[in-house]
Amino acid sequence: MNKNQWIDEDLLRRFESDGTDAHRLCTIDDGWAERFGAEVLISFRSNPARDRLLAEFQTWATSRKVQVNRVFGRFLPRKNEERERPILLQGSAGQTLQTTAAENHLKFGIDFDAGYSVGLFVDQRENRRFVRQIKPKKVLNCFAYTCSFAVAAARAGAQTVSVDLSRKSLERGRHNFALNELSTDGHQFIADDVRPVLRRLARRGEKFDMIILDPPTFSRTKGGAAFHVENDFEALIAAAVEIADRNARLLLSTNCETLTEQALERMARYSLKLSRRSGALHREPKPADFPPGAGARSIWMTLN
Ligand SMILES: C[S@@+](CC[C@H](N)C(=O)[O-])C[C@H]1O[C@@H](n2cnc3c(N)ncnc32)[C@H](O)[C@@H]1O
Repeated sequence: MNKNQWIDEDLLRRFESDGTDAHRLCTIDDGWAERFGAEVLISFRSNPARDRLLAEFQTWATSRKVQVNRVFGRFLPRKNEERERPILLQGSAGQTLQTTAAENHLKFGIDFDAGYSVGLFVDQRENRRFVRQIKPKKVLNCFAYTCSFAVAAARAGAQTVSVDLSRKSLERGRHNFALNELSTDGHQFIADDVRPVLRRLARRGEKFDMIILDPPTFSRTKGGAAFHVENDFEALIAAAVEIADRNARLLLSTNCETLTEQALERMARYSLKLSRRSGALHREPKPADFPPGAGARSIWMTLN
């Protein structure tokens, strides 16, 4: 998939046969379009980018005979503080702003009224697929958001612990379990800062065979503790390694534009050295609907 290309018939059919209707449609320099079930979200850095994506989407949807209910638009600001929820660009107002979308036959709640992010990061699809393939037993899902990784792990039979500052996001996570008819018995949802939680789990001697680390670029707790991924990711990985079982797998992922996969690799190797453990690194294939360089940078670390 290249920039400026809309997904072709083959990929669209592949998504359909995989039970996936949450995916990217097109990426351009100044934005992208994504589908979430019957709804489309256009993310744009400028009004010309928004107008171009909207016009090209209409041509694409007509030629592919894809039924779309509404199109939402969301401005991509430079500063996090300027992030706003999507607005309706096309389609009738007055309908519910909540819907569901599917990924590999798992359902996820989507909410165009919940804020800047609508509930599912489609660039993590291949990582969630890997979780299901590995069938871990005990998963720590840090920075869980709406618990999509926990849902994927639970579907594969794991017990999960999801940690996020936002109680609301964790509530949406519970709803995602329910959407997939997964009981939340044996699963934990902890509304707290990941860092003290990692320390507590280490003190209790808990071990996990999979740990997901997909932090935001920047955040601040209610108590004022700041998290800067560029400065704090390395310590976070080291703390996660402490509670990783033999043969555990850790996902290191980021959207921060200044952190490359090579930088993630360096951090991973440093944390192995600190803990005097060895391990191997690998990447899952890039999602087929993303052009090179777009979407999160991710690596998996398998500990020995
Ligand atoms: C990039 S999203 C994670 C996406 C998630 N991994 C997924 O694939 O759906 C970042 C999440 O981290 C949470 N967060 C930010 N700082 C945090 C912290 N210090 N401790 C726990 N959660 C935090 C935010 O509330 C947000 O839900």
